[in-house]
Amino acid sequence: MGQGDTVDVEFDEGIAWVSLNRPDKRNAMNPALNDEMCRVLDRLDGDDRCQVLVLTGAGESFSAGMDLKEYFREVEATGSLALQRRVRRASVSWQWKQLAFFPKPTIAMVNGWCFGGAFTPLVACDLAIADERAQFGLSEVNWGIPPGSLVTKALAATVPQRDALYYIMTGEPFDGAKAAEMRLVNEAVPAADLRRRTRELAVQLASLNPVVVHAAKVGYKYAAELTWAQSEDYLYAKLDQARLLDPENGREEGISRFIDDKAYRPGLGAFDRTRP
Ligand code: COA
Repeated sequence: MGQGDTVDVEFDEGIAWVSLNRPDKRNAMNPALNDEMCRVLDRLDGDDRCQVLVLTGAGESFSAGMDLKEYFREVEATGSLALQRRVRRASVSWQWKQLAFFPKPTIAMVNGWCFGGAFTPLVACDLAIADERAQFGLSEVNWGIPPGSLVTKALAATVPQRDALYYIMTGEPFDGAKAAEMRLVNEAVPAADLRRRTRELAVQLASLNPVVVHAAKVGYKYAAELTWAQSEDYLYAKLDQARLLDPENGREEGISRFIDDKAYRPGLGAFDRTRP
């Protein structure tokens, strides 16, 4: 897939490393980048070289958020509400919907600045690992706007209320270590270990049954917003769906290796799909 104008994709060991690629603008998300990310995610859906997607940023930044000049000022200056709706649609499409329900596991690798609008794709990724010194911030309040789009919703889905309101209302920045403490990311590691640890996790996810992992993640995300009764019905339907769609017949295989062959103990490690 290679080098686009605003997004770069590299493949390696089943991992698609997707980099927001406007380093001179600290990877601020302008309409061109948003459009390109919609297309990239569409293509990676059907690309077997991508079993796990890692989202990161080129250079010293993950993303400095929405591009204040090209996404806000220049679009507003046209006076076209249709254009405004169009750029908002593309932005929300990849940053939330396409990414949150992407059919393969996703990891955000936060390598540097992560501000404002960048919280949406950060939280839409299933898992997140940050450089412990990366700087995060909901800076919006400093220049007179409340955090817009789905940023606040993303915070509400991950961070306890006291922390969320503190950072939303003060606009104070915080580092990767604090982000891990608040559970905005899974782990914070030294910069030198960031890529190694992210790759290790990606390879682990790539080794698991893809149909089942997809059903498990989507099931979790929807069930979080359903009632208990709806969740019961939906998750049983998801279980049946995974069984029907799984070409590896993973459920029967796994249970048989445990019950009949006594050759596998789920409590002691992951199922080896490569074993005949
Ligand atoms: N929108 C538009 N342009 C941005 C941007 C944004 N969100 N963030 C950075 N840029 C641009 C700067 O205007 C500058 O452009 P220029 O070279 O044409 O002047 C370039 O990126 C480099 O930014 P600079 O501020 O010089 O880099 P820095 O390394 O000193 O600081 C940040 C990095 C991230 C701390 C700083 O750029 C910043 O605070 N950005 C805004 C972050 C933010 O509040 N985002 C929320 C938006 S929803």
